[in-house]
Amino acid sequence: MRFVASIIVLAAPLFVAAAPWKRQDSATNLLVLKFADVLEQLESKFYAEALAKFNKSDFTTAGFTNAQLAIEQFLSIQGDEATHSVALREGIKSLGSTPVDTCTFDFSKVLTDVTTMANVARLVENVGVTAYLGAAHLLSDPVLLTAAGSILTVEARHQTILNVLNAGTAIPQAFDFAFTPNEVLALAGPFISGCDLGIRANPSLAITNTGTVGVGTLLTFSSPAINGSTDGLFCQMLVGGLPFTISLPLAQCIVPDGINGPVALWVTSDSQPLINNPRDRAIDKLVAGPTIAFLDTKPQILGQLARTLGGTPPTVTNTVTPDQASSIISYASPLPTP
Ligand SMILES: *[C@@H]1O[C@H](CO)[C@@H](O)[C@H](O)[C@H]1NC(C)=O
Ligand SMILES: *[C@@H]1O[C@H](CO)[C@@H](O)[C@H](O)[C@H]1NC(C)=O
Repeated sequence: MRFVASIIVLAAPLFVAAAPWKRQDSATNLLVLKFADVLEQLESKFYAEALAKFNKSDFTTAGFTNAQLAIEQFLSIQGDEATHSVALREGIKSLGSTPVDTCTFDFSKVLTDVTTMANVARLVENVGVTAYLGAAHLLSDPVLLTAAGSILTVEARHQTILNVLNAGTAIPQAFDFAFTPNEVLALAGPFISGCDLGIRANPSLAITNTGTVGVGTLLTFSSPAINGSTDGLFCQMLVGGLPFTISLPLAQCIVPDGINGPVALWVTSDSQPLINNPRDRAIDKLVAGPTIAFLDTKPQILGQLARTLGGTPPTVTNTVTPDQASSIISYASPLPTP
């Protein structure tokens, strides 16, 4: 294990503050590092459990053209997440605080088969990117911001690999999403228990469609915060790079033409679009979300070389089979178990 030890030594100085902070800044900077560490723990444990559970033939059954091709990437990503956690924890300790050690993570509902696992891995990497990007404005120390940025760029590479391993577009949009910690917890919170970071989780939101999801599909949702009636509720769809969400009455939440890749969705009690800026996004009319749906309307050769979904390559009009859609979507935001 000497190799691991030397990595720890290299990683530790990343998160050392440049300047003394005001007390309030200090608390926020530390909270961001602790939150990031919990997410890295989640990612690392997810991949470790997945790799322990599934064998090569499980990967082949899930349509990977070469099981080892996928396993090699999952192993490499798992190693990065574990190393990120080590660096963040060393940073938290060097700032005189204690990392959060009490979280437990339950992936039993999503480690049922490799197809579901790979979909959730794609979600997990998207959540990683949105979390680092959405927390950037909360870090007042430029050295910590740069260190966090050096993790963000790697999470973005993982995201691309997972797009390819799910037969999607490698880099579907020119811009990524940024979510606040409260928004990140709407997505990640259902996997986490036993720890309290003092961050309120937005109510989770799940898409309940079971049929083919593509352009023109009416999206339906469930959430602990929605009681069945769509009256007075709106769906807010965000695609990377748009200045505002597309706002539609919830009963008419139809996937518009021209979307490819991840779509972030919120439900609000107001038709006012949400701004694509986590610092200024209005939350007073928020009902639930975000969740993320992946709409693979532009399959690429790279993804199809890695993966054959359901025996036939995805097409524009039938982007995913009903089974794939329901697993992508239902696991994109599992509801918390009561
Ligand atoms: C791989 O694991 C599956 C269960 O996940 C099992 O049914 C199968 O026999 C295993 N195959 C090999 C070659 O070990
Ligand atoms: C759902 O909640 C709204 C707002 O609280 C309420 O007006 C409505 O009656 C509720 N509908 C049902 C079916 O419970």
